Amino acid sequence: MCGIAGYIGHKIADQVLIVALERLKYRGYDSAGMAVVRDGEIHLRKAAGKLKNLSERIEAQPVVGRCGIAHTRWATHGAPTETNCHPHLSTDGRIAVVHNGIIENHEVLRRELKDQGCIFASETDTEVIPHLISTLYDGDPVAAVRAAIARLDGQFAFAVVFADQADRIVAARKGSPLLVGRGKKEMLLASDVPALLPHAQEVMFLEDGHIADFNADEVRICSFDGAAVAPRFKPIEISADAVSKGDHDSFMSKEISEQPEVLLRLIESRLRAGRLVEPDLGLDLAEVNHIVFLACGTSWHAALLGKRFLEHLARVHVEVDISSEYRYRNPIASGGTLVVAISQSGETADTLAGLRLARAKFIPVVGLVNVVTSTIARESNGVMPLMAGPEIGVASTKAYTAQIMALYLFALQVARAKGLLSQPEEARAIVSARAIVEHAARTLAECEDPVAEAADIFTSADATVFLGRGGEHPTALEGALKLKEIAYVHAIGYPAGEFKHGPIALVTRQLPVICIVPRDAMYEKMLSNLQEVRARSGRIITVGQAGDRSLADLSDHVFPVRMAPDDLLQPILSILPLQRYAYHVARRRDCDVDQPRNLAKSVTVE
Ligand code: M6R
Repeated sequence: MCGIAGYIGHKIADQVLIVALERLKYRGYDSAGMAVVRDGEIHLRKAAGKLKNLSERIEAQPVVGRCGIAHTRWATHGAPTETNCHPHLSTDGRIAVVHNGIIENHEVLRRELKDQGCIFASETDTEVIPHLISTLYDGDPVAAVRAAIARLDGQFAFAVVFADQADRIVAARKGSPLLVGRGKKEMLLASDVPALLPHAQEVMFLEDGHIADFNADEVRICSFDGAAVAPRFKPIEISADAVSKGDHDSFMSKEISEQPEVLLRLIESRLRAGRLVEPDLGLDLAEVNHIVFLACGTSWHAALLGKRFLEHLARVHVEVDISSEYRYRNPIASGGTLVVAISQSGETADTLAGLRLARAKFIPVVGLVNVVTSTIARESNGVMPLMAGPEIGVASTKAYTAQIMALYLFALQVARAKGLLSQPEEARAIVSARAIVEHAARTLAECEDPVAEAADIFTSADATVFLGRGGEHPTALEGALKLKEIAYVHAIGYPAGEFKHGPIALVTRQLPVICIVPRDAMYEKMLSNLQEVRARSGRIITVGQAGDRSLADLSDHVFPVRMAPDDLLQPILSILPLQRYAYHVARRRDCDVDQPRNLAKSVTVE
């Protein structure tokens, strides 16, 4: 959580840093601040609330300087007030720090530093860092930072500026991402690549246990124990356009609309001469006989579908674990087990911890990630990229459908490695996968009006139930999660057959019940479940095939979806109207769809 940015160069730092924070606010957005070094002093600007509050403050009180650090916060220790907002200062105001992560021994350090005369202003764990550095600083910034790090427990990425070092930023990483960007006579620092654009042309990913010390021309890297490390930059491959909203009013809306092209790009990336390529995962898929999926949130919903694919196509035994549970179990490591860590960001702390636990038990790990430069990607034995492009909206949309498709293709690859997929079957599966691209585009176009109409009617509903069976149970869970997180509507997703065992008591004339009813093997069963809701006067919205009379007769509203040629892939289409529904309800309730309250895009704390 939290986004860090830094700039040294010939441009006005505050302007560069505000744009960088704008690109990082998906990591947290409850307060923001900036420290600029000028004329031997540190000038601080902070504001609680959204980033525009900080922009307004800076506009009213500009600080013209060429070197600064900035932060957008997702509160962990201390409420999201201006006092708790970063940067934090040493008692004499000569050292400023921005931090992402958690300092676990902050209470002990705080007591010790107070005894030494340090005066604390905030309730944050972060504030111990500038005080600690100031007690150790004798004119050598890197030596002071190294000595301070030796006292810090926990995980962090932080950046420091010193009032007497007008052209220097020192940054360190242990567990939270941090990147240095190099431009023409300017150097940037950020938690993620988009924040380096458009100024930097090259990027260097700081490794865990490394410190970067840089000015506008040069960066020096050393390890925490002081050994010099050669900096390794590589060209930045994404463009500034990829991180803009384009013609859309929100990133979420743009990302929903991108799904057909994302799916196409992903499928093509896994094919060569019309056949599935052997994934380069450093292991023999034929020998895998047990797969454990680790994931959180939306990625966990995709994992539930991955289990269906692998069991059905490759006859492999699969477990799906919520990462925050797996990491505290004592999982059994047997030969033939593979862990697949699924994460859009590749930075989710719980999934990363699960990955590390698996690797400590010598279980091979494959990362299914969107951000290929992420920590999960780097710490996995093999990587399967999602190819979805930057996902900025906090609600995961295009990454979800890409995860489902990637898992389907992976299941085919495992099936083929095990001799369970003939060449004609493989060819048919590829045709089915490719057909989804067109079906997704049509579904998005055809569902839009009915979805918007239903959103008008149900904007004020204070609860919603989502029901699905088989592959559409994860769709129900995901539809409910989308509505909860961006529209703040209490919602539950339930397996439709289980609904009568208790939750059906919730049904009233006011309750919208959204049922996902494609023409699959569960169709007749779902119709019976619909009847049960109808008999109790619930308001029924169905996600189903256009023109299905039986469905229309039982429904108050129908969200039309195209039918996938392979039922296994139907959930990719069924979720599309539900993403749009959550979006429309949220807009009508005046919610910020890209930055819902209390959330952050990458959950890098436990
Ligand atoms: O980056 P990850 O896929 O690991 O993130 C996992 C969850 O935090 C994420 O899916 C979250 O549930 C989203 N806000 C859902 O829209």
